[in-house]
Amino acid sequence: MRFGVLTGGGDCPGLNAAVRAVVLRAARSGHATVGFLDGWKGVRDDQSRALAPADVAGILGRGGTILGSSRTNPFASPEDAEKVLATLARQRIDALVAIGGDDTLSAARELHRRGGRVVGVPKTMDNDVAGTDWTFGFHSASEVALDALERLRDTADSHHRAVVLEVMGRHAGWVALATGLAGGADATLLPEEPYVEATLLDRVRRAVAARGYALVVASEGIDLGPQRGSTGGRDEFGHELLGEREVGAELARRIQAATGIESRSAQIGHIQRGGAPVLFDRILATRLGACAVDLALSDHFGEVAVLQGPRVVGISLDEAVGSSKVVTPDWVDLLHTFDA
Ligand code: F6P
Repeated sequence: MRFGVLTGGGDCPGLNAAVRAVVLRAARSGHATVGFLDGWKGVRDDQSRALAPADVAGILGRGGTILGSSRTNPFASPEDAEKVLATLARQRIDALVAIGGDDTLSAARELHRRGGRVVGVPKTMDNDVAGTDWTFGFHSASEVALDALERLRDTADSHHRAVVLEVMGRHAGWVALATGLAGGADATLLPEEPYVEATLLDRVRRAVAARGYALVVASEGIDLGPQRGSTGGRDEFGHELLGEREVGAELARRIQAATGIESRSAQIGHIQRGGAPVLFDRILATRLGACAVDLALSDHFGEVAVLQGPRVVGISLDEAVGSSKVVTPDWVDLLHTFDA
């Protein structure tokens, strides 16, 4: 067989580990792999490179993706859809492994509906793909956010300030939840909950009264109501570029204005997406990449490799795409146990 592999959507640590696993698992059974460049764009425009085992040597622990990525919707027009099918035929691809989040996997599902032999691997630092316990990238990104929070604690403590850390997370607050829980934040704001300013101000006041400073973690996806920011910029899938809203900076302004406590904010943005994957993500990406190849070899096209409990298994793309896995009430309840 001839495998194709692509990495689409926002990059995250672990993509190279997954690509390596696909190439080496396929090679073990004597199959060749071609890497498409920049996600679905490479399939649409027929841009690829051969991926021999030697090409993936040493990439397991490297951040980013050697294949490049983009947020390209390959089914944006009938012409593009035809180009995709033509490339796969021209390149004689027997099995395509699409590594990505909801948008990339939705495109894989569409390709499968049109007869394409495709399997998926979920990735995203947002951890919001349904049907899998975790996505790789999430633990690495959350470690970066936690490190940032610990640094902010030092300076907040020295200056007796309130500091707001803004982290990524489009519809789901998993990164904020993990950072707030693991870092002992005084308040953590998730997109899953309505924003109540009076509650936030209370927590900040209590924390400052108790120990002289306050730490707030805010997910970029929270809705603060009317605020400055946002240029209205959107990506190819129509998603608002949330970072432009700068909710962390807005929160710091509001806290300072309402309480008189000197406040600062930090937006760590894409820093969370770079760097080496942590051990958990390396292993998860490796397992899922290998599982995707096994799914293809056993004719389970239209499925996506996921982690469920201790096992990696295939579930249908229909189960995995179309709805975000958001933070559940039990996690929210645990989180608020530790609010100031
Ligand atoms: O989907 C992952 C994510 O990191 C979101 O949390 C964030 O809003 C978005 O990507 C930013 O993407 P980019 O700036 O790369 O388009």
